[in-house]
Amino acid sequence: MKNILITGVNGQIGSELSEKLGALVGLENIVGMDLRPATPPYQITHETVDVTKKEALRQVIEKYNIDTIFHLASLLSARGEMNPDQTWEVNMTGLKNVLDLSRGKNIKIFWPSSIAVFGPTSPKENTPQNTVVDPNTMYGITKRAGELLCQYYAGKFHVDVRSVRYPGIISYKTEPGGGTTDYAVEIFYEAIRNKIYTCFVGGETCLPMMYMDDAVRSAIEIMQADPEQIKIRSSYNLAAVSFTAEELTAEIKKNIPEFKCNYAPDFRQKIADSWPKTIDDSCARDDWNWQHEFDLAGITKIMLEKLREKLKL
Ligand code: SER
Repeated sequence: MKNILITGVNGQIGSELSEKLGALVGLENIVGMDLRPATPPYQITHETVDVTKKEALRQVIEKYNIDTIFHLASLLSARGEMNPDQTWEVNMTGLKNVLDLSRGKNIKIFWPSSIAVFGPTSPKENTPQNTVVDPNTMYGITKRAGELLCQYYAGKFHVDVRSVRYPGIISYKTEPGGGTTDYAVEIFYEAIRNKIYTCFVGGETCLPMMYMDDAVRSAIEIMQADPEQIKIRSSYNLAAVSFTAEELTAEIKKNIPEFKCNYAPDFRQKIADSWPKTIDDSCARDDWNWQHEFDLAGITKIMLEKLREKLKL
């Protein structure tokens, strides 16, 4: 990891991954790429490039002599349902471009998959690594197809690509955009601002979640692992903590007793219901020593503290 490219750098994960990688290899060795121009504090070199444009992507890779790509550019599950064609284009063409341009070049790739690869008939409890995958969103379909593409490129072209199936990611710096798990972030903003939140999934909805620091660390650790440790080249199940929307509300109430959460499920409920409640991530724990750090209480504490600072409330 000498010259690193992060696609989708303006997004929820990209903005924090760039900081952590900067601390590791030096900010001057990181290039951020996004459809949108750079956002402050402008710490790294930025290229405003669309990942579906292969030639433009090739030029960026060559210009900076890139040897590692964290390919994060993607449309998420809920927004993806508003525009399935664009989701296919960005998620699949983008990934295939990255894989193609890395063939024979010794470029190492991290690409996130998601719990969205699972679907209505996948087991919901302790969902195994290898089981029924029948995604029912375009996002989930692109993630599952992407996993198979990664495995294929690793086997056929020896591309060193590594991947994890992220659960919902909770963070305070950059808001998520268009995911089904976004309620687990929005709830903190509204608890602090208005002491009331209307949640778009029911209170009993239980989904796997992870705090951003754990998510970023998992990406860095899987990339630092020896190649022999990476026995799965599609994507690893990855887990930290699972809780219902009601349990999250109760945890917030310990800190803000007057907080009230109402539940008004919309189209995202069906997506949430098709995903696992809990995940068996023993392969990641065994193969490259994955361990999460933050539980529900820890996540709630840090989110409330940091958002109060950020919102000056
Ligand atoms: N957080 C994502 C979403 O909700 C899941 O990968 O779409």
